[in-house]
Amino acid sequence: MPTRSNIVVFAASNSTKSINRRLALHAARILRDEFMAPVEIEVLDLNDYEMPIYSPEREAQGIPQLAHDFYDKLGAADGVIISFAEYNGAYSAAFKNIFDWSSRIKMKIFQERPVMLMATSMGGRGGQNVLAAAMGGFPHFGANITSNFSFGPFNEHFDTQTDQLKTPELALELREAIAAFRDALPASA
Ligand SMILES: Cc1cc2nc3c(=O)[nH]c(=O)nc-3n(C[C@H](O)[C@H](O)[C@H](O)COP(=O)(O)O)c2cc1C
Repeated sequence: MPTRSNIVVFAASNSTKSINRRLALHAARILRDEFMAPVEIEVLDLNDYEMPIYSPEREAQGIPQLAHDFYDKLGAADGVIISFAEYNGAYSAAFKNIFDWSSRIKMKIFQERPVMLMATSMGGRGGQNVLAAAMGGFPHFGANITSNFSFGPFNEHFDTQTDQLKTPELALELREAIAAFRDALPASA
Protein backbone atom coordinates (compact mmCIF):
# COMPACT_ATOMS: atom_id res chain seq x y z
CA MET A 1 0.00 0.00 0.00
CA PRO A 2 1.40 3.44 -0.90
CA THR A 3 1.63 6.00 1.90
CA ARG A 4 -1.40 8.27 2.02
CA SER A 5 -0.75 11.90 1.13
CA ASN A 6 -2.17 14.59 3.38
CA ILE A 7 -3.94 17.19 1.23
CA VAL A 8 -4.82 20.50 2.82
CA VAL A 9 -7.81 22.17 1.15
CA PHE A 10 -9.33 25.57 1.80
CA ALA A 11 -11.27 28.46 0.35
CA ALA A 12 -9.52 31.81 0.62
CA SER A 13 -12.75 33.23 1.97
CA ASN A 14 -14.35 33.53 5.41
CA SER A 15 -17.90 33.17 4.08
CA THR A 16 -19.77 30.32 5.72
CA LYS A 17 -21.57 29.86 2.37
CA SER A 18 -18.42 30.16 0.28
CA ILE A 19 -18.78 29.03 -3.33
CA ASN A 20 -15.02 28.64 -3.44
CA ARG A 21 -15.21 26.19 -0.56
CA ARG A 22 -17.67 24.14 -2.62
CA LEU A 23 -15.30 24.20 -5.58
CA ALA A 24 -12.23 23.30 -3.49
CA LEU A 25 -14.06 20.36 -1.90
CA HIS A 26 -15.38 19.23 -5.29
CA ALA A 27 -11.81 19.11 -6.65
CA ALA A 28 -10.50 17.26 -3.59
CA ARG A 29 -13.26 14.65 -3.87
CA ILE A 30 -12.47 14.08 -7.56
CA LEU A 31 -8.82 13.57 -6.64
CA ARG A 32 -9.76 10.99 -4.02
CA ASP A 33 -12.75 9.24 -5.60
CA GLU A 34 -12.17 9.38 -9.37
CA PHE A 35 -8.39 9.43 -9.50
CA MET A 36 -8.25 6.94 -6.64
CA ALA A 37 -5.37 8.92 -5.20
CA PRO A 38 -4.36 7.65 -1.75
CA VAL A 39 -5.08 10.91 0.07
CA GLU A 40 -6.38 12.17 3.37
CA ILE A 41 -8.27 15.44 2.87
CA GLU A 42 -7.99 18.06 5.57
CA VAL A 43 -10.29 21.05 5.09
CA LEU A 44 -9.27 24.30 6.75
CA ASP A 45 -11.70 27.09 7.64
CA LEU A 46 -10.13 30.56 7.64
CA ASN A 47 -12.49 31.56 10.46
CA ASP A 48 -10.41 29.29 12.70
CA TYR A 49 -7.36 31.50 11.98
CA GLU A 50 -8.82 34.94 12.57
CA MET A 51 -6.25 37.31 14.02
CA PRO A 52 -5.88 41.06 14.57
CA ILE A 53 -5.01 42.87 11.33
CA TYR A 54 -1.28 42.63 10.77
CA SER A 55 0.84 45.62 11.71
CA PRO A 56 4.58 45.91 12.36
CA GLU A 57 3.83 47.19 15.88
CA ARG A 58 1.69 44.12 16.63
CA GLU A 59 4.39 41.91 15.20
CA ALA A 60 6.86 43.48 17.62
CA GLN A 61 4.62 42.08 20.39
CA GLY A 62 4.88 38.61 18.86
CA ILE A 63 3.40 36.61 15.99
CA PRO A 64 0.04 35.07 17.04
CA GLN A 65 -0.06 31.32 17.70
CA LEU A 66 -2.76 30.98 15.01
CA ALA A 67 -0.28 32.12 12.35
CA HIS A 68 2.12 29.41 13.51
CA ASP A 69 -0.73 26.89 13.45
CA PHE A 70 -1.60 27.83 9.85
CA TYR A 71 2.05 27.73 8.77
CA ASP A 72 2.44 24.31 10.38
CA LYS A 73 -0.66 22.99 8.57
CA LEU A 74 0.93 23.93 5.25
CA GLY A 75 4.20 22.35 6.31
CA ALA A 76 2.49 19.09 7.28
CA ALA A 77 0.69 18.89 3.91
CA ASP A 78 1.92 16.87 0.95
CA GLY A 79 -0.13 19.13 -1.32
CA VAL A 80 -2.41 22.15 -1.05
CA ILE A 81 -5.61 23.03 -2.94
CA ILE A 82 -6.88 26.61 -2.66
CA SER A 83 -9.87 28.34 -4.24
CA PHE A 84 -9.91 32.13 -3.99
CA ALA A 85 -12.79 34.50 -3.42
CA GLU A 86 -12.12 37.70 -5.37
CA TYR A 87 -12.88 40.92 -3.51
CA ASN A 88 -12.42 44.09 -5.54
CA GLY A 89 -9.99 42.37 -7.83
CA ALA A 90 -7.80 41.03 -5.02
CA TYR A 91 -7.53 38.57 -2.10
CA SER A 92 -10.21 38.63 0.56
CA ALA A 93 -9.05 40.49 3.67
CA ALA A 94 -9.54 37.27 5.66
CA PHE A 95 -7.00 35.41 3.54
CA LYS A 96 -4.58 38.32 3.14
CA ASN A 97 -4.28 38.80 6.88
CA ILE A 98 -3.43 35.13 7.47
CA PHE A 99 -1.03 35.23 4.51
CA ASP A 100 0.72 38.34 5.86
CA TRP A 101 1.10 37.02 9.40
CA SER A 102 2.27 33.57 8.26
CA SER A 103 4.84 35.06 5.89
CA ARG A 104 6.48 36.74 8.87
CA ILE A 105 7.36 33.32 10.29
CA LYS A 106 9.18 32.41 7.08
CA MET A 107 8.52 33.97 3.70
CA LYS A 108 8.28 30.64 1.89
CA ILE A 109 5.07 29.65 3.65
CA PHE A 110 4.19 26.93 1.12
CA GLN A 111 7.47 25.17 1.90
CA GLU A 112 7.91 23.88 -1.69
CA ARG A 113 4.66 21.88 -1.62
CA PRO A 114 2.63 21.17 -4.79
CA VAL A 115 -0.20 23.72 -4.91
CA MET A 116 -3.28 23.80 -7.15
CA LEU A 117 -4.93 27.22 -7.46
CA MET A 118 -8.55 27.90 -8.39
CA ALA A 119 -11.12 30.69 -8.28
CA THR A 120 -14.78 31.16 -9.02
CA SER A 121 -17.18 34.05 -8.67
CA MET A 122 -20.76 34.97 -9.41
CA GLY A 123 -19.55 37.13 -12.30
CA GLY A 124 -18.34 36.00 -15.70
CA ARG A 125 -14.63 36.53 -15.09
CA GLY A 126 -14.54 33.86 -12.42
CA GLY A 127 -12.04 35.55 -10.11
CA GLN A 128 -9.33 35.73 -12.76
CA ASN A 129 -7.71 38.80 -11.20
CA VAL A 130 -7.10 37.22 -7.83
CA LEU A 131 -6.02 33.98 -9.48
CA ALA A 132 -3.47 35.89 -11.57
CA ALA A 133 -2.15 37.56 -8.40
CA ALA A 134 -1.64 34.18 -6.74
CA MET A 135 -0.15 32.60 -9.88
CA GLY A 136 2.39 35.41 -10.13
CA GLY A 137 3.14 35.79 -6.44
CA PHE A 138 3.01 32.38 -4.82
CA PRO A 139 6.21 30.95 -6.39
CA HIS A 140 8.06 33.58 -4.31
CA PHE A 141 6.39 32.09 -1.25
CA GLY A 142 7.58 28.56 -1.90
CA ALA A 143 4.58 27.25 -3.84
CA ASN A 144 5.21 24.65 -6.52
CA ILE A 145 2.16 25.56 -8.61
CA THR A 146 1.06 22.50 -10.55
CA SER A 147 -2.07 23.84 -12.24
CA ASN A 148 -4.88 26.35 -12.08
CA PHE A 149 -8.57 26.52 -12.89
CA SER A 150 -11.25 29.19 -12.83
CA PHE A 151 -14.73 29.70 -14.13
CA GLY A 152 -17.75 31.96 -13.82
CA PRO A 153 -20.57 32.66 -13.39
CA PHE A 154 -20.69 30.03 -10.64
CA ASN A 155 -24.45 29.44 -10.73
CA GLU A 156 -24.47 28.84 -14.47
CA HIS A 157 -21.89 26.07 -14.36
CA PHE A 158 -22.11 24.45 -10.92
CA ASP A 159 -25.00 22.30 -9.73
CA THR A 160 -25.37 23.08 -6.04
CA GLN A 161 -27.73 20.11 -5.51
CA THR A 162 -25.14 17.54 -6.55
CA ASP A 163 -22.02 19.68 -5.93
CA GLN A 164 -20.77 18.96 -9.46
CA LEU A 165 -19.71 21.08 -12.41
CA LYS A 166 -22.45 20.68 -14.98
CA THR A 167 -20.62 22.13 -18.00
CA PRO A 168 -18.71 19.26 -19.65
CA GLU A 169 -15.82 21.39 -21.00
CA LEU A 170 -15.18 22.83 -17.53
CA ALA A 171 -15.47 19.42 -15.88
CA LEU A 172 -12.79 18.14 -18.25
CA GLU A 173 -10.56 21.17 -17.69
CA LEU A 174 -10.81 20.71 -13.94
CA ARG A 175 -9.81 17.05 -14.21
CA GLU A 176 -6.74 18.03 -16.26
CA ALA A 177 -5.72 20.45 -13.52
CA ILE A 178 -6.25 17.76 -10.87
CA ALA A 179 -4.21 15.23 -12.87
CA ALA A 180 -1.22 17.60 -12.92
CA PHE A 181 -1.57 18.13 -9.16
CA ARG A 182 -1.88 14.38 -8.52
CA ASP A 183 1.29 13.71 -10.53
CA ALA A 184 3.25 16.05 -8.25
CA LEU A 185 2.20 14.33 -5.01
CA PRO A 186 4.80 12.15 -3.28
CA ALA A 187 2.48 9.11 -3.42
CA SER A 188 2.59 9.29 -7.24
CA ALA A 189 6.38 8.97 -7.37
C1 LIG B 1 -16.51 43.42 -1.11
C2 LIG B 1 -16.75 42.53 -2.28
C3 LIG B 1 -16.01 42.69 -3.44
C4 LIG B 1 -16.19 41.84 -4.53
N1 LIG B 1 -15.41 41.99 -5.62
C5 LIG B 1 -15.50 41.13 -6.65
C6 LIG B 1 -14.61 41.21 -7.75
O1 LIG B 1 -13.72 42.04 -7.81
N2 LIG B 1 -14.73 40.30 -8.74
C7 LIG B 1 -15.68 39.31 -8.70
O2 LIG B 1 -15.75 38.50 -9.61
N3 LIG B 1 -16.54 39.20 -7.65
C8 LIG B 1 -16.46 40.08 -6.64
N4 LIG B 1 -17.29 39.96 -5.55
C9 LIG B 1 -18.28 38.89 -5.54
C10 LIG B 1 -17.66 37.62 -5.01
O3 LIG B 1 -16.94 36.98 -6.03
C11 LIG B 1 -18.74 36.70 -4.48
O4 LIG B 1 -19.28 37.30 -3.31
C12 LIG B 1 -18.27 35.31 -4.20
O5 LIG B 1 -19.35 34.55 -3.71
C13 LIG B 1 -17.13 35.29 -3.20
O6 LIG B 1 -16.65 33.99 -3.04
P1 LIG B 1 -17.00 33.09 -1.77
O7 LIG B 1 -18.47 32.77 -1.83
O8 LIG B 1 -16.14 31.88 -1.95
O9 LIG B 1 -16.66 33.88 -0.54
C14 LIG B 1 -17.15 40.81 -4.46
C15 LIG B 1 -17.89 40.63 -3.27
C16 LIG B 1 -17.69 41.47 -2.20
C17 LIG B 1 -18.48 41.26 -0.93
